[in-house]
Amino acid sequence: MVATKAPPRDTLTVTDNRTGKQITIPIIHNSIQATAFKALKAVPRDGDREEDDYANGIRVYDPAFMNTAAISSKITYIDGDKGFLMHRGYPIEQLAEKSNFLETAYLLIYGELPSLQQKKVWEFEVMHHTFLAEDLMKIIGNMRYDSHPMSIFISAFAAMGAFAPDANPSLQGRNLYLNDKLTMNKNIIRIIGKAATVAAASMRVRMNRPFIAPRSDMTYTENMLYMMDAISGAEGYRPDKRLAKALDILFILHADHEMNCSTATMAHVGSSLVDPYSAIAAAAAALYGPLHGGANEAVIRMIERIGTVDKIPQFLEDVKSKKELLFGFGHRVYRNTDPRSKIIREVAETVFDAVGREPLIDVAIALRDAALKDEFFISRKLFPNVDYWSGLIYKAMGFPLDFFPILFAVPRVAGWLAHWKQSLEEGNGKIWRPRQLYVGEPRRDYLLLEERSEKEVVDPKRGVTVLPHFLSKRRMSKL
Ligand SMILES: CC(C)(COP(=O)(O)OP(=O)(O)OC[C@H]1O[C@@H](n2cnc3c(N)ncnc32)[C@H](O)[C@@H]1OP(=O)(O)O)[C@@H](O)C(=O)NCCC(=O)NCCS
Repeated sequence: MVATKAPPRDTLTVTDNRTGKQITIPIIHNSIQATAFKALKAVPRDGDREEDDYANGIRVYDPAFMNTAAISSKITYIDGDKGFLMHRGYPIEQLAEKSNFLETAYLLIYGELPSLQQKKVWEFEVMHHTFLAEDLMKIIGNMRYDSHPMSIFISAFAAMGAFAPDANPSLQGRNLYLNDKLTMNKNIIRIIGKAATVAAASMRVRMNRPFIAPRSDMTYTENMLYMMDAISGAEGYRPDKRLAKALDILFILHADHEMNCSTATMAHVGSSLVDPYSAIAAAAAALYGPLHGGANEAVIRMIERIGTVDKIPQFLEDVKSKKELLFGFGHRVYRNTDPRSKIIREVAETVFDAVGREPLIDVAIALRDAALKDEFFISRKLFPNVDYWSGLIYKAMGFPLDFFPILFAVPRVAGWLAHWKQSLEEGNGKIWRPRQLYVGEPRRDYLLLEERSEKEVVDPKRGVTVLPHFLSKRRMSKL
């Protein structure tokens, strides 16, 4: 008998049963290279689809990235089963207790806690890059009075790029950020500094009040509250320190969360080497959606709709029959309580001490307790996430509901920038370009108009083929 040598332990051996071909792939960091599967090519049989591209090897199909690591990163680690989160090795609980938002932002972006001198300079710099160009203020001021603040935030960052031609690789050369660390740092500082000002401006527009110039002698969150709430610069208003501190902790908790939808967007868009302002606008757009940064707003709307504790059982029945979603529960990575939600629950009490108890909290607590006892949530490992409580704090602090995603976006700017910088410096320099499985029509020849059938949607009244949408009767009468 010939002894077959076992493959090395840290490898994966795969046999393609179509051809008998075997490949052995190294397992590194408990992962395998998806490109290794390109070696498994096959010849299509009769009836196989040409579009399945047999000649280029097996594709790895992973819609919604359920099990695909798109980057390797040194920034943030989440143990979803244990409910543990750390940034650059530091547990989130320690950062929330001992750090502040700007220091955590520095840690995320530059990899280490700053020294005393570095911290001073960093905070000074960020707080001295808080002004927006006058013309940008005019753009923001021209938005509709009832615009969603996230629309303003996204638009302001997209427009901000136009005010920073020196930051634009399309104008300055594609390797701008590889060759010039000063430009990279300058724009990181600018973007963090201006994010709070844009946020405050988005609120002032809606109140139809003039913008208030930022104050560089305040902390990041104090200044943001000041720009939102001061009646005028001359008034000498200083926000409540307890609220500024609570917001600062919330900002630490929201600063980064590895490859979430908006951070993945930042990395994806950034991989084209577009300027960071445009990439931030794209990331903010991703965060705007109700399944991501819009969830804290959705939680409050949901709890308001439930209204009273006695309506909870019926609501949970509707969730179980998939008529409703329990916003603020569930997470792609956490299969345990989100550690941030525990910290936020404690911050909530500090805020209630300052501004009064939020009446919806009792319904929220009862809803959480009922869900955590229910088999539907237990079996699916659905626990409260960060958004479950944050909205209640923001509501207690008097922020309008549609402003909540802004309070997520401003601190997340730090995480977006950390990933953007890491991708540029340590990524493989390739543009992100996922593959797809084409399952549509096979190749066919163009049909002339007279050869096409009218089988689609025919409006019975007018007899014309229409797309189902709201048609203007006046316009359609001309057809
Ligand atoms: C966050 C979220 C998008 C993660 O989604 P995901 O990882 O794709 O999880 P899935 O949608 O595959 O959920 C798995 C199962 O749990 C159910 N589920 C997940 N979250 C749920 C929720 N909040 N309410 C009710 N059911 C939920 C799904 O319907 C699915 O049930 P099924 O097995 O019967 O089909 C999802 O949990 C969600 O929509 N939560 C509410 C929105 C929210 O709070 N977002 C903020 C995240 S920080």
